[in-house]
Amino acid sequence: MPQSKKPRLQATKAPRESVRILITGGRIQRRIQEIAKQIRKDFPDEPLHLVSVLKGGVFFLTDLARSISGEVSFDFIAVSSYGQNTHSSGQVRLTRDLDSSVEGKTVIVVEDILDTGMTLQYLLRLFEQRKPKHLRVAVLLDKPERRIADVRADYVGFSIPNEFVVGYGLDYAERYRNLRYVGILTLGSDTKKVVAEK
Ligand code: IMP
Ligand code: MG
Repeated sequence: MPQSKKPRLQATKAPRESVRILITGGRIQRRIQEIAKQIRKDFPDEPLHLVSVLKGGVFFLTDLARSISGEVSFDFIAVSSYGQNTHSSGQVRLTRDLDSSVEGKTVIVVEDILDTGMTLQYLLRLFEQRKPKHLRVAVLLDKPERRIADVRADYVGFSIPNEFVVGYGLDYAERYRNLRYVGILTLGSDTKKVVAEK
């Protein structure tokens, strides 16, 4: 008796993810040039000390630092937050401190995205205690709808809708950071593929 060749359903666990471009790499670069000029205009004669938050702010910092004329130095800090549903500032934790003191310096905090604002609120409190000469904030992206903490950025690249975005430093489970553009991530539901038996 020949075996029947029935198709069978094979469940695959991997969700079908897709990224839709929201802001092209070109637009990001042009906006960074404008922000760099604005920062230098606001502080024409000051050495500027950029402090970026690892890891998401890294590309913004490197592009911004190279676009600001005059004296620029930079440093890195890292924080971890205990999930998205945080409602108190106690839930952000410092995991890597700066290498050098910010006392007396003109400090620009460089962040990838301002979402609830809890991270920035924590950082601003920390830096204010360390007596910088000036303290300013530059964020590439701002999601104003999600704000919980009463903080704002001095320099904003783009205001975006309440969507989960990846690219240009921003990740989903450590992936997509290396995209040159910013895109909206869509997670498909578990898919079932029909696989015909041979
Ligand atoms: P906040 O403390 O809620 O403002 O969150 C800031 C951090 O959450 C950012 O630095 C990102 O690491 C992360 N985050 C917030 N929104 C997004 C997003 O849409 N995509 C990727 N990461 C995000
Ligand atoms: Mg971040």
